[in-house]
Amino acid sequence: MTETLDTAEEGARVYAADRAHVFHSWAAQELVTPMVIAGALGSYVWDYDGRQFLDFSSQLVNTNIGHQHPKVVAAIKEQADRLCTVAPQHANDVRGEAARLICELAPEGFNKVFFTNAGADAIEHAVRMARLHTGRIKLLSTYRSYHGGTTTAINLTGDPRRFANDYGSAGVVHFFGPFLYRTAFHSSSEQEECERALEHLEQVVQLEGPSTIAAIVLETIPGTAGIMTPPPGYLSGVREICDRYGIVYIADEVMAGFGRTGTWFAFENYGVVPDLIAFAKGVNSGYVPLGGVVISDEIAATFARRVYPGGLTYSGHPLACAAAVATMNAMTEEGIVQNAAAIGETVLRPGLAELAARHRSIGEVRGLGVFFALDLVKDQATREPLAPYGSSSPAMDAVVQACKERGLLPFNNYNRIHVVPPCTISEAEAREGLAILDQALAVADEHTTDS
Ligand SMILES: Cc1ncc(COP(=O)(O)O)c(C=O)c1O
Repeated sequence: MTETLDTAEEGARVYAADRAHVFHSWAAQELVTPMVIAGALGSYVWDYDGRQFLDFSSQLVNTNIGHQHPKVVAAIKEQADRLCTVAPQHANDVRGEAARLICELAPEGFNKVFFTNAGADAIEHAVRMARLHTGRIKLLSTYRSYHGGTTTAINLTGDPRRFANDYGSAGVVHFFGPFLYRTAFHSSSEQEECERALEHLEQVVQLEGPSTIAAIVLETIPGTAGIMTPPPGYLSGVREICDRYGIVYIADEVMAGFGRTGTWFAFENYGVVPDLIAFAKGVNSGYVPLGGVVISDEIAATFARRVYPGGLTYSGHPLACAAAVATMNAMTEEGIVQNAAAIGETVLRPGLAELAARHRSIGEVRGLGVFFALDLVKDQATREPLAPYGSSSPAMDAVVQACKERGLLPFNNYNRIHVVPPCTISEAEAREGLAILDQALAVADEHTTDS
């Protein structure tokens, strides 16, 4: 716990300043009541009232290396002493090293990185590259997805955050990805769902006109939209469709990448290689904002002698890149990706399955690594969600509240609780979180139809 003289009074002051002047994301400003965070370490955060919370959200699923990792903090301090900023047209040691390390982690044939400030602009630039590479305009993405808050990224997004931002002018066509639990294809098995989702995608491609489609943009495992792990064969089927029609496959690895699924990139779990990889969050756990696009040799060649028409003042910012270098090195040295895989298989998967067996509010558990979702329902037979799509409910509010009262900070979206702790989480911490979830789910059970 912090050694500073944090007081409830100081917490009240911080809260008041926030409410007076901070304009919050995705919110009606008079209705937000932000939790005040005074400090954090490892898997925990705390407020000014001395309450500590196990961070099962990794904030916005970005602190893969946990809070305040000493090697990353030291690297930022060291870089700050040496060189805080440098324009993107110059070469810089940590920028080059961060790019080299990322390419080393990427599949063969990826040797260039374009750095951005975060995930949304990584998507914007991946799309720009794909459009210029193919000479085509249209983009395909799934309804159940989130790709960021900027113009093209929010139009690519399927989830309701798009609705108010969609002018229908971004050249995006949405399709259904595979999701057996809430199948759009009336499937009764993963294999059927896979086949039907691929048939549907190919029809969309054909009916839209293959020669008009620049890219298919796909979260390898859709994150905020529900952690729907794709059935075996789906992503390789998408790869085949892209190859057949000359479409660029953009993997959005912003949330699923850098260890979260127990592999460096989530697509490694499915044996596919995309053409462009958008990353952010876990690359340096968000200690300093950073994102980017890892570019295949073929697409990089398009811009070898032709100007790439895009750039950012802070592309490859030294503080962010120093944090990325330290993060990737620490994750390798300390086996943090392997830890995520092991915690997922030995603690979270069996622990969550056990909760599902006892709590009638759990409709489905899905995920891998430290990337799981609980799909909460009013009724296991009808699968009616505990909150409507795109909204919350008193039942979900009560579950989240029950978690917080017991010292757990959950990630919640509509009718789902996501179990997304840092990749560094220990077995004891993971079990502590499961025990709190167990109690909070008893609250959810009270809201089911047969209760
Ligand atoms: C899959 C995915 N893509 C893109 C983004 C956008 O990233 P950012 O918020 O860093 O712009 C997010 C953010 O949550 C994301 O989860």
